[in-house]
Amino acid sequence: MEQRRFAPTLALLAALSVTACSPWTGPQAGRSLYAQNCVACHGTDARGGAQMPDLTLIAARAGGVYPQARVLDKLDGYARGQTVYDGVEMPNFGDLLTGRLDRVDLPGGRSRLLPEKIIALEAYLRNIQRPAP
Ligand code: HEC
Repeated sequence: MEQRRFAPTLALLAALSVTACSPWTGPQAGRSLYAQNCVACHGTDARGGAQMPDLTLIAARAGGVYPQARVLDKLDGYARGQTVYDGVEMPNFGDLLTGRLDRVDLPGGRSRLLPEKIIALEAYLRNIQRPAP
């Protein structure tokens, strides 16, 4: 039992160490972008609600390994239509969240050029992950 709880924590720590943050791409910037764009549906604490996914359990839902590339795809609009929840779909923020580009390092030595706002939002979401309740 203890080991099963420990494994996701390790995976989260590994994911957290990957990204280097500038003031524009770090979790703090992401937190205010979240407040402006996301609270209406996902809630101020990001824990979702009826038909709205809990964004603090993205890693837990993915078996304990935080799916960074998939979250970036979701925010960038690439994952449009690939819903996790039936019926309700998230709006596409890819066009809204434009601006300066920065490179984000992904696990496995890959990297992607993305708008800073998307990188910041993703950094914020990665920061607030918690183990399955
Ligand atoms: C109009 C309501 C609405 C708003 C506003 C909204 N979302 Fe969503 N979001 C949803 C719904 C519904 C889903 C589940 C269906 C889907 O995946 O499209 C979702 C899914 C997600 C997922 C995928 C979760 C997973 O487990 O894979 C992420 C990440 C996410 N939202 C982040 C955000 C962020 C960040 C913002 C603000 C920029 C935001 N959402 C704004 C409704 C919304």
